[in-house]
Amino acid sequence: VDPEQSVDTLSRNKDIHEAARMLREGKLVAFPTETVYGLGADAASQEAVSAIYTAKGRPSDNPLIIHIGEKEQLYTLAAEVPPAGEVLMRRFWPGPLTLILPHRGTLAPKVTAGLDTVGVRMPSHPVSLALLRVSGAPVAAPSANRSGKPSPTDADHVWHDLQGRIHGLVDGGPTGVGVESTVVDVTGEVPLLLRPGGITWEELQEAVGEVQVDPAIVQEGTAPRSPGMKYRHYAPQGEMWVVVGEGAAQIRRVQALADEARRQGKKVGIFSTEEHRAYYQADWVLPCGSRQDPASIARELYRGLRRFDQLGADTIVAEGFPPEGLFHSVMNRLSKAAEGRVVQA
Ligand code: TXA
Ligand code: MG
Repeated sequence: VDPEQSVDTLSRNKDIHEAARMLREGKLVAFPTETVYGLGADAASQEAVSAIYTAKGRPSDNPLIIHIGEKEQLYTLAAEVPPAGEVLMRRFWPGPLTLILPHRGTLAPKVTAGLDTVGVRMPSHPVSLALLRVSGAPVAAPSANRSGKPSPTDADHVWHDLQGRIHGLVDGGPTGVGVESTVVDVTGEVPLLLRPGGITWEELQEAVGEVQVDPAIVQEGTAPRSPGMKYRHYAPQGEMWVVVGEGAAQIRRVQALADEARRQGKKVGIFSTEEHRAYYQADWVLPCGSRQDPASIARELYRGLRRFDQLGADTIVAEGFPPEGLFHSVMNRLSKAAEGRVVQA
């Protein structure tokens, strides 16, 4: 990135036409989607796509999702859209669902990391939809964080991670969903859930019947089918623990882990639902939404993980949840952030 033109000097702006022009010129522009902020580049430009990997520090074997502003654009990217793909796209687009399909070979090869499939989604955020429609071209966009860090749910998070590494940032305020899109491979007989996200497994099943789940989502140590799922991810600097359970048993186990770490001289943060917050003692007790409202937990998740980093927490103990509905997506992120340190209360 030419430092003259980086966001240091360009400043954060909200001009969608300017951002679309920059994308067409092969520049890197971060923008809000309903899930998390994306780091966009023209999907047809090999150089622009390469620049995404450099800016993020992303391994080159991890393919990018293509974002489109009109459903019809899917047919210019995919060689074939199987019936399950048609049903899912009609039901959930625009929205937080990415479909994995065989591609036509028209994209920059780096976008797909050499695979014969491509991930495509049509976001529902008004700013990303407007940007995609004005730019007219498919836009490759991973989450706009440095690789391995929690995904950005606010423009400030993007700024913190990528300032000086990108050309522009469209500030749309905090994102609504808070976890990334659900990734579903529809190339096989039965749709396969590769990454749980904003659309739940239950919603997918309701729409198309049987949907298998990549065993790597639930079982540590199994090779995942989605390249990105194998990397350490969403991770705060501190060592994180997740305690699954309910009520008094969960509270006791969370507090016991926190106490143990504090005895070892660690600065300890507890990530607690609003319902349990008053029961805990630690250096910091941060709220992560309400158990009655899983969407509030998804929305607060990454902001909280980033906050513990800012505070300098050495150890973070988080409450865990049963793997149902949006909690399934939240637990997937929590257990990755904790590198598998998940215990039962
Ligand atoms: O909500 C989202 O999906 C956000 C916003 C910006 O749209 N984007 C996002 O992108 O989360 P990223 O790059 O952080 O995650 C993309 C995931 C990775 O796990 C990647 O391996 C997987 O999608 N993926 C992409 N193309 C794939 C393919 N052809 N086959 C299997 N997995 C694929
Ligand atoms: Mg990501």
